Amino acid sequence: MLETSIAGLRLKHPVMNASGILGSEPEHLEILAKQGFSALVSKTITLNPREGYPPPIIVELRNNGLLNAVGLANPGARVIPVLARKARELSKPLILSIGGSSVEEFVKLAELASEAGVDAVELNLSCPHAEGYGLELGSDPMLVYRIVKDVVSVASLPVIAKLGLTDRVIESAGKALEAGVKALTLINTVKAMSIDVYTLKPVLSNKYGGLSGPPIHPIAVRVVYDVYREYRAEIIGVGGVSSWMDVAELMLAGARAVQVGTALIWNENIVDEILSGLHKWLIDLGYNSLMDLVGIAVM
Ligand SMILES: Cc1cc2nc3c(=O)[nH]c(=O)nc-3n(C[C@H](O)[C@H](O)[C@H](O)COP(=O)(O)O)c2cc1C
Repeated sequence: MLETSIAGLRLKHPVMNASGILGSEPEHLEILAKQGFSALVSKTITLNPREGYPPPIIVELRNNGLLNAVGLANPGARVIPVLARKARELSKPLILSIGGSSVEEFVKLAELASEAGVDAVELNLSCPHAEGYGLELGSDPMLVYRIVKDVVSVASLPVIAKLGLTDRVIESAGKALEAGVKALTLINTVKAMSIDVYTLKPVLSNKYGGLSGPPIHPIAVRVVYDVYREYRAEIIGVGGVSSWMDVAELMLAGARAVQVGTALIWNENIVDEILSGLHKWLIDLGYNSLMDLVGIAVM
């Protein structure tokens, strides 16, 4: 009833974790597997280790959102075979999120991911707070095309592009598809800022951060809707999912799978809660398969 497929991966249900909340160490994959995610997504891995920014790097906001500028802290490419081995041990598909500041770095990481036998790579073209990485690349549709084209030419696995909110997200999505991605992940955190009214300065050490959690959910729904309407592409929807209704909305807008990030911090039963809610929803509507509802709100 809840089975789905995305980028050639057949999944028991549509709920995977979003990159970055956990997923840079094998122990994190164990925690995520226990929570019941159908596929595991790693933290974004870069070629060399990155320390990230000094604290403060995360702030809880008054509107239930979270603002972070972790700065893509990760152990570097040495961890790729370790994560691949752990995911196999857990019998879960592994989507390796990779990030680079050049076409060459993405290509090298995709080669390493292919060699390690991960199930798919997700190209982080959307982190809004790491200089030279992420959104700075993903907001240029021609650069998206070049990165994806070169990665697809060396990778013997499905390639997914994760794009974020920019004025040109629909164009970037089109270029990623034209260059050969099997699916798109939409969206990443939204570039934002919080200011401490007593220190009179931005709260985060990096000043700018990425907004996540419930406040960005309607933005994610809108972007998924627009990209699906334009290309009928395979989409993984992400942004502010904290209940089954949020998943349902993203799927009606065109997503075949979803990712959960911020809500994981507060609710370790989130996967079970979402799955039982979706199950009941399908019965209430008289549908046999979740896949029959994908994109049906799109006109
Ligand atoms: C603390 C934190 C770290 C994150 N790290 C990454 C990352 O390494 N790579 C990435 O593609 N997205 C990263 N994200 C973004 C999430 O994967 C997701 O796209 C975003 O948070 C929106 O989903 P949510 O509202 O469910 O959290 C991070 C988000 C948070 C809150």
